[in-house]
Amino acid sequence: MRKIIIAIDGPAGSGKTTSAKLLAEKLNYIYIDTGAMYRAVTFAWIESKLEMSDEVLQNIINNSKIELKPSPQGQITLLNGVDVSKEIRSDIVNRTVSPISANEFVRRHLVELQRILGQGKCCVMDGRDIGTTVFPDAELKIYLTASIGARAKRRLIEYQEKGISNLSFNEIADQIIGRDRYDSNRTISPLRKAADAVEIDTSDMTLVQQVDTIYQLAIKAINE
Ligand code: DC
Repeated sequence: MRKIIIAIDGPAGSGKTTSAKLLAEKLNYIYIDTGAMYRAVTFAWIESKLEMSDEVLQNIINNSKIELKPSPQGQITLLNGVDVSKEIRSDIVNRTVSPISANEFVRRHLVELQRILGQGKCCVMDGRDIGTTVFPDAELKIYLTASIGARAKRRLIEYQEKGISNLSFNEIADQIIGRDRYDSNRTISPLRKAADAVEIDTSDMTLVQQVDTIYQLAIKAINE
């Protein structure tokens, strides 16, 4: 049995985070949600109340310790030792995370951290550029997609369950379209399917079906 890195990329609401978390649990692998790291930097910037600029973001990066800790919920995100797992899912973070994640310095720093966290481990890592940039040699690459309608519906249910936002279905759909556009068109490491990634459209799949499909591919890759 090989120790492998499983890279799961895809747009917002495609089912990455939930399926990656459950997959890691099933395989007894560590789970790393890289979006949480970009969200933590965004939260630190919001808290700073400063204008967004390269200098401000560099300063925030240089003074922020971002840690991901396993928990029964999947992962806890710590910013300078404080649990910000709930705060990083807020509306304001959703609205501002894309431009911050497009910043060259922020990306360089977080990609380096992600490589340190995953290198040589049995790991499921999800994000936008894991299969293309962070671990281009990952043994298994999955690219999840889903229709805008399916993705907005999932986010709406998540927001209602967690009580983190009052946005309507249409507002969420607009936000998702905006983030897709930003994440796919930025200059550095844009959201792209790696040439050797397996694409799975989850629009009509249940969560169990999504996890099971990836699990079968993972078992095959581990036993290769
Ligand atoms: O997966 P998410 O919605 O939590 O990601 C939040 C934002 O972070 C997303 O808009 C794009 C960015 N991101 C990224 O640029 N690269 C990653 N590897 C993960 C997330």
